[in-house]
Amino acid sequence: MKFTTPTYFLTTTFVTTLLLDISNGAHLRQTTSISTSPSTDQLYCGQAPCVTLSELTKELRNRVPREDPNIKLYAAPNDAQINDWKSVVKSMLIADPRCESIPIPDSLTEAKYTTARFTDEDDYDYCVLSSLPTQSYENNSNVYSKYFEYLWGTVIIRLRKNDIFLTKVSIDIPHPWSDKGTYAQGTSIFKNSNAKSLLLAGSERYTNGKDENSPKSDCDSRYNEADAAHGTNNMFHAAVEKIDNYFSGKGGYTAIQFHGMGNTTCPGVDAFFSDGNDQEASSSGNELRWNFETSSNFNEDTLKLVGEAECNMNGTRNIQGRFLNGVSTPELCRTESEGGIFSTEPTRYDGKFLQIEQKENIRGEQYYKAWAEAVINSFPSY
Ligand SMILES: *[C@@H]1O[C@H](CO)[C@@H](O)[C@H](O)[C@H]1NC(C)=O
Ligand SMILES: *[C@@H]1O[C@H](CO)[C@@H](O)[C@H](O)[C@H]1NC(C)=O
Ligand SMILES: *[C@@H]1O[C@H](CO)[C@@H](O)[C@H](O)[C@H]1NC(C)=O
Repeated sequence: MKFTTPTYFLTTTFVTTLLLDISNGAHLRQTTSISTSPSTDQLYCGQAPCVTLSELTKELRNRVPREDPNIKLYAAPNDAQINDWKSVVKSMLIADPRCESIPIPDSLTEAKYTTARFTDEDDYDYCVLSSLPTQSYENNSNVYSKYFEYLWGTVIIRLRKNDIFLTKVSIDIPHPWSDKGTYAQGTSIFKNSNAKSLLLAGSERYTNGKDENSPKSDCDSRYNEADAAHGTNNMFHAAVEKIDNYFSGKGGYTAIQFHGMGNTTCPGVDAFFSDGNDQEASSSGNELRWNFETSSNFNEDTLKLVGEAECNMNGTRNIQGRFLNGVSTPELCRTESEGGIFSTEPTRYDGKFLQIEQKENIRGEQYYKAWAEAVINSFPSY
């Protein structure tokens, strides 16, 4: 229940109004206001402190800006910030020093990132790396929305309690809004599968726009600038690198990315499992599929692996997938032509990455527990 935050967050509320010059000539009034409540030592969910992990992540999602034709709110972190972020994530993973004592390097302090222990109502503890301050933006229709000042997302690490086992899995959620429901779904699966970590992207894939004139990912120009799954210079990807590093001495792990697909995409398929290889279906995907079928009683005919159905959601361009499948960091982004095929393809697929594309029905609350049970039954613990 307690969400401990450091003193810099105990600032009193201040409000300044400024005019931002937007490149297309439109003006957007930005009202900067730090803090969300009179007592800012906790993250507030509405008028009260967030009590459960699911309330917390719901609130975090509400602060992620969606597509807006006039505002480009996402700014990528610089190299120094990415390196500092990695060192903090490493400390969180090994829980040394304790979550609340992890030193925050200057570059992240400027971005108001901090680590805090969050105790859920069932008394389990999590170490949360996030930047809570928000800014209010007024759009052209005079609607105010409160968004994060820094859109780099949140890392949540499970802290070991007594002798409970942890599952060698990270639940990774790259698309807060366009893959509707996946923040909440991922939080529940993380919670109930004893997974080690939960990664929540802090920008929507379309935060800086989605049309052809909007800025594209400098890693893969088919995708947009703020899309965490299609770039390397973002904190989501940086956290994946450190989690992979942490598990490398422990026999490895699996990053499971939960995505959402539209109702008319891949007809007849409700969940599509891929490890980023369009040549051969993966055994871990197959195992998770059947374990989910067992725990959910879901219609097995609609749970498909790559190659089993007419469906193009193969996940071969997913950058975290490319990284976990062994493409070296300098080769992750290089394409032969703009938006074309990658010049370096993975050479091994050893179960570190799994992407699940889901219709809206299978993302529903009634299947959260079945997904968590399937994760526990499919992956090793430690
Ligand atoms: C302003 O924000 C509201 C709420 O998100 C949205 O419905 C509306 O379309 C936005 N207006 C403009 C001009 O962006
Ligand atoms: C996805 O993989 C399948 C099976 O190998 C293949 O037939 C299909 O062309 C691939 N789709 C894309 C978009 O690459
Ligand atoms: C998608 O289908 C589900 C039922 O499976 C329905 O509840 C939902 O409203 C549909 N979503 C859209 C955007 O049409």
